[in-house]
Amino acid sequence: MISIKKVTDLAHYMVSMVINAGDLAVDATAGNGHDTAFLAEKAGPSGHVYAFDIQEQSLKATADKLKEKALEQRVTLIHAGHEEIARHVVNPVKIVMYNLGYLPGGSRRVKTESKTTLNSFEQALTLLEPGGIITLVLYPGHPEGLLEKKELLRVCTKLPPSGYTVVHTVLANQGNEPPELIVVQKILFKSG
Ligand SMILES: C[S@@+](CC[C@H](N)C(=O)[O-])C[C@H]1O[C@@H](n2cnc3c(N)ncnc32)[C@H](O)[C@@H]1O
Repeated sequence: MISIKKVTDLAHYMVSMVINAGDLAVDATAGNGHDTAFLAEKAGPSGHVYAFDIQEQSLKATADKLKEKALEQRVTLIHAGHEEIARHVVNPVKIVMYNLGYLPGGSRRVKTESKTTLNSFEQALTLLEPGGIITLVLYPGHPEGLLEKKELLRVCTKLPPSGYTVVHTVLANQGNEPPELIVVQKILFKSG
């Protein structure tokens, strides 16, 4: 049984339903490394994770977490914005995780921005394998987070249902503008 207290728990649950050992995955916002380590565990020794962040502090925290769990061989840490995702990742990936906003415990001035998030998301849609998912944890409680939510929903609601399934979840009893989750799956067409 899993306990769902936060939308990040739900994101992990959705990812664990889809990811298999040997898969390629991207953590588009490495932060303190929780999602990167989770992906590296799930992808196993034959899989690989590409983790992006614009802050050295975040990449250091992620590297420390991976070392602690002996997972560093499974991850490439990339000091770049996720809007450069397609320059660094060329093969199709099963999972792309975004946990938007700012680094918990870090400067609130350094945060994801709607323009670059959207640019990255559009590249991620192209990189995604059929059957793969993109998870986006949104924080509409601050102005840029609200803009990111609106922009992402504008794009997601226009994705053709013949190609993608889009799930949008709100933890409805968690106060004003609680965190939200969008999950996009590229539809897998089975032959026969
Ligand atoms: C909420 S934190 C991520 C939490 C992380 N996933 C974890 O498991 O600990 C958001 C991170 O996004 C990073 N960030 C902001 N803009 C970015 C961008 N354009 N590309 C990649 N990372 C970015 C911030 O530096 C911050 O570390």
